[in-house]
Formats: sequence, structure tokens, C-alpha cells
Amino acid sequence: MALNSSTLHFLLIIFSLCILTVSSESHARAAFKPNTLVLTVHKDTATNLHVTHIFKRTPLQSLPFLVDLNGRFLWSNCDQNYLSTTYRAPICHSTQCSRAGTHYCHKCTSSPRPGCHNDTCGVMIVNPITHRNAIGELAQDVLSIQSTQGSYSGPGVQVPQFIFACAPSSLLQGPLPNNVQGVAGLGDTPVALPRQLSSQFGFKQQFALCLTSSDTRYGVIFFGNPPYKLLPGVDVSVPIGYTPLTISPEGAYTIRLKSIRINNKPVPFNTSSRGEQVLGKTIIITTAPYTLLEHSIFKSFTGLFANQLSGVPRVNPVPPFGLCFNSKNLTSTRVGPGVPAIDLAVYSRNATYWRIFGANSMVQARPGVSCLGFVDGGVNPRASVVIGSLQLEDNLLQFDLARSRLGFSSSLLFRRTNCANFNFTSA
Ligand SMILES: *[C@@H]1O[C@H](CO)[C@@H](O)[C@H](O)[C@H]1NC(C)=O
Ligand SMILES: *[C@@H]1O[C@H](CO)[C@@H](O)[C@H](O)[C@H]1NC(C)=O
Ligand SMILES: *[C@@H]1O[C@H](CO)[C@@H](O)[C@H](O)[C@H]1NC(C)=O
Ligand SMILES: *[C@@H]1O[C@H](CO)[C@@H](O)[C@H](O)[C@H]1NC(C)=O
Ligand SMILES: *[C@@H]1O[C@H](CO)[C@@H](O)[C@H](O)[C@H]1NC(C)=O
Repeated sequence: MALNSSTLHFLLIIFSLCILTVSSESHARAAFKPNTLVLTVHKDTATNLHVTHIFKRTPLQSLPFLVDLNGRFLWSNCDQNYLSTTYRAPICHSTQCSRAGTHYCHKCTSSPRPGCHNDTCGVMIVNPITHRNAIGELAQDVLSIQSTQGSYSGPGVQVPQFIFACAPSSLLQGPLPNNVQGVAGLGDTPVALPRQLSSQFGFKQQFALCLTSSDTRYGVIFFGNPPYKLLPGVDVSVPIGYTPLTISPEGAYTIRLKSIRINNKPVPFNTSSRGEQVLGKTIIITTAPYTLLEHSIFKSFTGLFANQLSGVPRVNPVPPFGLCFNSKNLTSTRVGPGVPAIDLAVYSRNATYWRIFGANSMVQARPGVSCLGFVDGGVNPRASVVIGSLQLEDNLLQFDLARSRLGFSSSLLFRRTNCANFNFTSA
């Protein structure tokens, strides 16, 4: 059968349309199916807390958020200058509200604006520094984030309806880094950044925190699949050990320590009736600059540290620290001041230690005065050990939510890299 020319022409058009559709689809798929995403994080010098910049809204705006490892979601001040054409607030009892675990219907008496609508769902928002709280509206808007193939940052990808909460601006009062517009929660909930990003893009429920000690350069948070690479081409995604990770009733990432050692000598603790040392739970947070130790542990810990560094003259402690030395008498090493190593012995198949060197244990509290960067947490703390950000800097911590385990690298300075060495090509 012969085809006439108009039929042929028609078939050609259909054929080329098919090719166009296929190629643009595969383009879209290639561009929008990242395996790994990255956020910049910088250290705020006034508070020693860490801040990330996130692109949100339409048109996109880069906004600073405090990094809260245990935050249940991202929350943002919506009272002032919230201009976006893509803001929406899901109605109460919707699936978005149940993902966020709220069944409370919100009412607002002033005129409608972002954060103020009737019959949307209300969530309890807590400021992790002041612990003050307020009810805010659950909301959705565009979020854009850079992707990576491991070594450097690549194209941005969008989450069109990222779920977050709108807080009143009064909740941002307190000793927070300047200009922060809210708090970026990295907790283990369906609507915190890690799980919301992995369900959007279908990658591993895993993220890694690499906080920098630098005042001027950027650290990095990786979301999704390894490898995670830092300049000069170091793959830091293979940890020295893993330990079980649980979530406390208050939602904090929790690990258990078997012991704490200084210079390989165990810090003495109370023993149980069965003669075991009792070290309660350990949580990890990014909203305190230094590790807090329960009062009796703190006394024992600083006592042993002072004893192991007895050759170095002590000076009057500078609050909030309890043990300080004359900086001139400390040697300097690749991993910071030359002081005894502190080992956190974790439960791990490989019986490994999370080893803490001078760069993560000492603080220059004042010129010429170096203090042990651990603080007395009092007699009734949230947990016996609350690991704070100084001890996390230039370490890569991998929170593997799917397998409930924490991978730790110990100091990256030993691997001749650090957390400010991710190649943010467009940051
Ligand atoms: C919510 O409803 C109340 C009473 O029905 C009304 O006065 C108020 O203006 C409404 N608020 C908004 C934001 O529409
Ligand atoms: C732990 O030890 C096992 C067996 O010795 C080894 O195969 C594995 O790679 C080790 N894991 C780490 C994280 O070092
Ligand atoms: C150790 O025992 C003392 C005295 O009984 C008690 O005050 C303290 O809280 C205990 N410390 C820990 C870490 O359990
Ligand atoms: C500590 O440093 C001071 C000043 O450099 C020096 O005079 C002193 O001898 C040192 N002390 C010790 C114990 O090293
Ligand atoms: C960072 O990545 C860009 C893009 O691939 C590359 O051109 C640049 O050389 C890298 N920078 C360094 C210091 O390797």
C-alpha cells in the first residue's frame, strides 16, 4: 500500500513529537532526580551556633535559618515581608496536616496573610534556644536546594510544596544569630528536612552534618546518598564506626556511651548495684555551643583532665568553663592544642571510639587563656551528656535514619581535610 504525501507528513510530525516528548522527559528526569543535596552552613561568631541559607518562596529568596539537629520541622517568621505567589496553607484534617502530626484547626482574627488563615492546621512551634513556644500555621511553599554528584555542588532542584510552619515574629526573640528568619529542623519526623527531601526525591533516608570551625567559610549538610567528598577529593562518607541511634521521647537523636576516657584512662562514674558504671543517655544537639555534662560527671571529667595535664599551669576559669590553662604552655598540633585525647566509647561492633582532640576540646576563651570546652550541665539535665557543636565541628556525622545508626568520622583534620572544604561552586 502506498502512502500519500499528506499521510506521510502527518506520520512524520507524530514521530518527531514522540522523540521530542521522550527527550524532554528524560531531560526533566535527569535534572530532577538528584541522589544527593547540599546546604551551606556557616558559624555565627557571636553565638557560636550554625546557620544555613535556604532558598524559599516565589520569587526565590535566600533566607538564614538556625540549624536545629533535633527540630521537628522548618519554621519561619511569616509576620514580616512574606511575599510569595506560591504560599498555601493546607486545610485542617488534610493529609499534609496528618503528616505533620497535627489535628488542631487554626483560627486567625486579623486579615488573611501568610500565617493567618481560618481552618488551616495549627502546630506547636518551640524556639530551641529560649524554649518559648507558640501556635503557628502549617504551610507549604517552594523550596530550592543545590544538588551534588559528590564532589561539588550542581544544579538546584525544587520542592514545589515543601511543608513548614509559620511562626509569629515574637518567637524569634532571644540570643539567636543575627537576622535568622527561623529554624531548620533536621529531626527524624516526616516533615523535617531529611525525610521530606528523601520522600520527594526518592533517595536514602540519610543525612550528614559537617559543621565548620571556620568563621569565614562554609560547612555543609549532605542529604541522601553518599559519596560525600571534600577537597582535595577526600571521600569522607566511610565512617570509622557506627553506633545505634535512637530518638528520645522529646525527639532528640540519642546514642549510648559505654565510658569516657581521657588519655586512655576511664573517667570514674557511679556504679550500679551490679557494679557497672552508670552513664545515662547521650543526646546530640546543635543548639548549644559546648557539650554539657551532668554535674557529677563534669566534676569527675574535669578532675581527670586536669590530672592528665598537670604539667601545664592552670589559670582562673573563664565562665561558663570550669578548667582553663595558660595558652602559651600548650603545644600546637595538626588537630589543635596538644592536650590529652578524649574518647567517647560507643556501643559499636568494631569497639571504636569517637576520639576528640584539642581542636574539638579546647576553646580560646580570652587571649592567652584556653579552656576545656565542656560545661557543667547541673544536677538535673535533659541527658547525662548533651554533645554540643564545638565537639561536632570538622567531624562528619552520618544520621542513617533508615537503619537507625550514627556513623562518625572523628576529626577530619587527620584526613587532611575539614568541613569548610566542600566545593560550593555557586555559593
Ligand atoms: C476568620 O473567621 C472570623 C469569624 O468567622 C473572621 O472574623 C476572621 O476575619 C477570619 N479570619 C481570616 C484570616 O479570614
Ligand atoms: C567493622 O569490622 C568489620 C569486621 O572486622 C569490618 O568488615 C567493617 O568494615 C568494620 N566497619 C567499620 C565501619 O570499620
Ligand atoms: C552519682 O551519685 C551521686 C550521689 O549519690 C548523685 O548525686 C549523682 O547524681 C550521681 N551521678 C550520676 C551520673 O548518676
Ligand atoms: C609557661 O609559659 C610561660 C610563658 O611562656 C613560661 O615562662 C613558663 O616557664 C611555662 N611553664 C611551663 C610549666 O611550661
Ligand atoms: C570546584 O568545582 C568546579 C566545578 O567542577 C571546578 O571547576 C573547580 O576547579 C573546583 N574547585 C576546586 C578547588 O577544585
